Amino acid sequence: MGEILRAENISKTYHMGSVEVQALKKCSLTADRGEYVAVIGKSGSGKSTLLKILASFDRPDSGNVVIDGQDILSCNEKKLSKLRREKIGFIYQDYRLFSEYTAYENVVLPLFIDKKIPVDEEVDEIFEMLQISDCKKKYPSQMSGGQQQRTAIARALIARPAVIFADEPTGNLDAENADGVARILSQASMRYGQTIVMVTHDKQMADYADRIIMLKDGCCG
Ligand SMILES: Nc1ncnc2c1ncn2[C@@H]1O[C@H](COP(=O)(O)OP(=O)(O)OP(=O)(O)O)[C@@H](O)[C@H]1O
Ligand SMILES: [Mg+2]
Repeated sequence: MGEILRAENISKTYHMGSVEVQALKKCSLTADRGEYVAVIGKSGSGKSTLLKILASFDRPDSGNVVIDGQDILSCNEKKLSKLRREKIGFIYQDYRLFSEYTAYENVVLPLFIDKKIPVDEEVDEIFEMLQISDCKKKYPSQMSGGQQQRTAIARALIARPAVIFADEPTGNLDAENADGVARILSQASMRYGQTIVMVTHDKQMADYADRIIMLKDGCCG
């Protein structure tokens, strides 16, 4: 197995005028290769803040984040964008698909950005696994919420990043679709050895996880 992600003593305070919100207080966690970790906590407990920092989209006030041996807070922009392309996938709660592109184009986009050519069989396999094969030529506006969410998951999986961060990926789905998404992520971790860090406040979603990390008032339990 081996460790792929390590966060140590992450603190983050938001300042709004004279008001300070301490979103994270010395939060530490680790995840192994192929591990499926669920981060659960109440609304406002700092889950999204933590995920953005772990995925290098935001910087903490103090602490360290190491992904696959690289201290991401000391990386320059060039190194960081390479690390993001190769090691990090992110699934947003609100999908963030490009409306002017088809599902197929949305999914293969990360490969093109990385100057890689999509392999038809690999793309087909991911579309089949996510049960969206009949959506390839559809635009996001022509798909259901669940289909859009699974397209967003396919996009995060396609380049086989070492770590996939998912911020409440089932928040907008019905129970059946939500269960399917949790299962798919679990399959990805088993089949491709990818690490999944999923934020949710739905305890049922956490059932598929190998490990649960509780976040309470900005502290990891
Ligand atoms: N950009 C920001 N500016 C100021 N305060 C913020 C900002 N983002 C988050 N916060 C505050 O930080 C705390 C943690 O927010 P965060 O979004 O991380 O919580 P969360 O656990 O993801 O909640 P939810 O389950 O509702 O998504 C909250 O009190 C929130 O109001
Ligand atoms: Mg959140």
